[in-house]
Amino acid sequence: MQPHSPINSTRPSRRRFLKNLGLAAATASGIGFWPGGLSNLQVLGQDQGQTPQRFATGTNGVVATVHPLASRAAIAAFERGGNAIDAAISASLMLAVVDGHNSGIGGGCLALVRRSSGAIFAVDGREMAPAAATPDMFIRDGKPQPLLSQLGPLAAGVPGLVAALHQLNESAGKIGWIGGLADAAKVARDGFAIDSNYANNLRNSASEIRKYPEAARILLDSDGNPLRQGMQLKQLDLAATLDNLAEHGPKWFYEGAFAEKIADFMQQTGGILTAADMANYHAVLRQPIESRYRGHRILGFPPPSSGGLHIAQMLGMLELHNVRAIFEQDIGKGLHLLLEVMKRAMADRAYWLGDADHVVVPRGLLDREYLALRASDIDLERATQVLQHGQPPRATEDVFGKKHTTHLTTADRDGNVVALTQTVNTSFGCKMIVPGTGVILNNEMDDFAIAPGVRNAFGLVGAEANAVAPGKRPLSSMSPTLVLGDDGRPILSCGAAGGPKIITTTLQVLVRSIDLNQSLAEAIAAPRVHHQWSPDQAVCEESLNSEVVRQLEQKGHSVQRIRAAAIAQAVRFQDDGIIQAASDTRVPSAAFSC
Ligand code: DON
Repeated sequence: MQPHSPINSTRPSRRRFLKNLGLAAATASGIGFWPGGLSNLQVLGQDQGQTPQRFATGTNGVVATVHPLASRAAIAAFERGGNAIDAAISASLMLAVVDGHNSGIGGGCLALVRRSSGAIFAVDGREMAPAAATPDMFIRDGKPQPLLSQLGPLAAGVPGLVAALHQLNESAGKIGWIGGLADAAKVARDGFAIDSNYANNLRNSASEIRKYPEAARILLDSDGNPLRQGMQLKQLDLAATLDNLAEHGPKWFYEGAFAEKIADFMQQTGGILTAADMANYHAVLRQPIESRYRGHRILGFPPPSSGGLHIAQMLGMLELHNVRAIFEQDIGKGLHLLLEVMKRAMADRAYWLGDADHVVVPRGLLDREYLALRASDIDLERATQVLQHGQPPRATEDVFGKKHTTHLTTADRDGNVVALTQTVNTSFGCKMIVPGTGVILNNEMDDFAIAPGVRNAFGLVGAEANAVAPGKRPLSSMSPTLVLGDDGRPILSCGAAGGPKIITTTLQVLVRSIDLNQSLAEAIAAPRVHHQWSPDQAVCEESLNSEVVRQLEQKGHSVQRIRAAAIAQAVRFQDDGIIQAASDTRVPSAAFSC
């Protein structure tokens, strides 16, 4: 096992920065395309007249999000005397306005929090399947219909973001969320300039949005064309919705006028989500998954996220190797090792993972001996075929529970830290806006396995464990993650957006920070790889050096090149009290401090 490596807390030199990245050339920026047009991660480039600030240091508070207005909203919360939790709530609400293609109050989130007291908690604001949902609701004439779980009324789960933000506010906020709601409502009312990311996703979703009159009214111009980059988007209904939330609280959303509006709309359009489903929704406080990696405590999100568990699995397999020495000897070999552990973890995901409140998810998936066995056939020279999931010990007795997305992170000088990933799933969710509310509804039902072997929008397959059931939460890849020292002090917070690539991207930020001792900016900018077991493909970002890609092919990987794997945001605490925030170079994101 390799010795404990301290996380590098300084900025890298330019030369070392480029070398450590394994970049084809100095092309760390300018990446951004999602194969198949499925994701919310389409962008790239600089928005006109703006220079994205992607790295910040501060002593009071820091934030990293994908939008400067959201990062600014977080700083405003700090300036009002708020802590990292208040700042995260404000950023989240602002993202619902300026980044609505990715996330919003019609969607859900998972948040992992460390309080200044050292207490850690996880808030599950994941959408829930309506009570009338059935395992075969997306089957017609015996054939699975993925379009039904991706577009239109059946695709929407009961939204969870509002309940989760309220829970965060109640449990750890200092200043309340009225200020954050007011800031978000103001931008919704006054309008904001559509950025390149929003414009690209809107253009790619326009033909589907055209089918839904309320979404078309708000997001398309009078000729039915998508609003373009630089145009002002005003969302008056959304502003009124946020004002109502400020005035009447979440009860208005889940049990009042909003719940009635959504239920009426669903009834008119053939959906199954009812006012009772809204009233029954609750955010859940969950016990984070804790594992250890090279002297650090790693805190991850438990099911219905798969991310926390699989990141712990992959780190457990990696700890059997001297990762730093392998990367130093040969970057291709290092990336090959990452791909091999990804494959094994993702095979387990496809079989074992689902909402642990509904199905058995064995804790044995994290068992050290199980992971050693699972990793025992990794060959550093050749890609091995992973035929199926493993058989963890005590699979039925020792179990969890039962008894295009965006990630943001904030931290403050008292050691409060929030890692929060929120989503409506793919761009503009199910493409429907509840009339009169401005709220874009999620299409999170597509994160269920609608039938065995049928791929979802991210190409993921699943089994019985992730089948649709009433009141069940679809399996998520969202992976808000915290790294603590042995003594519990916060070191790092990270997470990402990008479907299953969230899990593998978060892993790579951890490995680059802990094993390779890279700076936060390096760890985020570095070219990424991804493997989700099925299809058996090593996905490599285009910025990865072609010599390294050739090496992976020589080892037997079937390589697919893509422009951007996922979008990560992270925070790191230096030993001298300075806190760093870094946002992803792949989109026009923003890291601010105060
Ligand atoms: O929870 C999940 O795993 C997905 N709904 C995440 C979707 C996502 O990351 C969209 N991407 N950019």
